[in-house]
Amino acid sequence: TAKYESILTSRPEPGVALVTLNRPKALNALNVALFRELNEALHLIDADKEIGAIVITGSEKAFAAGADIKQMKDKSFADAYQNKFLESWQQIASIRKPIIAAVSGYALGGGCELALMADILLAAPNAQFGQPEVKIGTVTGGGGSQRLTRAVGKSRAMELTLTGRTWSAQEAVAWGMASRVVGEGDGEVVREAVALAAEIAAKSQIAVQAQKEAVNAAFEQGLSEGLRTERRLFHMTFATADQKEGMAAFVEKRKPNFTNS
Ligand code: CAA
Repeated sequence: TAKYESILTSRPEPGVALVTLNRPKALNALNVALFRELNEALHLIDADKEIGAIVITGSEKAFAAGADIKQMKDKSFADAYQNKFLESWQQIASIRKPIIAAVSGYALGGGCELALMADILLAAPNAQFGQPEVKIGTVTGGGGSQRLTRAVGKSRAMELTLTGRTWSAQEAVAWGMASRVVGEGDGEVVREAVALAAEIAAKSQIAVQAQKEAVNAAFEQGLSEGLRTERRLFHMTFATADQKEGMAAFVEKRKPNFTNS
């Protein structure tokens, strides 16, 4: 297995990969090296046939406190522009396997944007979200203006990003940005995310990945194009052994045995 400095990777359950952001002294601030490792790990996991779903988490205190301010504070426009600063963050969008963010503590700036890149967001009661970029003289750079606006609507996204105020786990759920608040105890949100990932990983991986692609089409495409994408993916499943097995198992009143083919 690969050795990383700023992240930890493990396999807490069969079929599940857990990626833990691990720069505790900097509250998991997302520097260039961390994101390079995260992208590499996610692409290796995506290619690993043993893995069906991915959990990304941080620590109890911080999912991630943002892009690394110390690393970028003296950056020039020429450097940022010519080296496409933060463009590599969007590689996460090409991961086929479902990604669950288990968020405890601070998810600020780029940390909030990373959580918004996940397919499912579970929040611990102490989760604190925010896009405070405006307070340090810049704007969201990791997709916040787009994904947060799609998640919570224009008026809230404007209010949140123009003031930089933080919001709670309960607010994130009420606004549809997170699916639920999980647990009270330490590590509970990670355990729940791993259990959810294991449940997903036990399904047909082709169906799971096509379903993720179909839901994502709702964010990228207009309605009729999105409906066509969904129908094409639905039709495609009839070419898979897993569709035959899944439907045969239903009719024969037994558990399906998916082969991811
Ligand atoms: N970048 C670099 N270092 C950071 C950091 C960040 N985003 N967030 C925290 N740290 C560092 C602190 O500098 C501190 O390091 P030292 O011990 O060397 O001083 C260490 O982590 C612990 O942080 P604090 O002492 O500040 O901890 P706290 O509990 O008092 O406060 C906090 C926690 C409220 C999260 C505070 O650290 C904070 O406000 N962090 C910055 C949040 C922020 O502005 N994020 C947005 C960044 S911009 C961005 O992300 C752009 C984008 O869209 C991609």
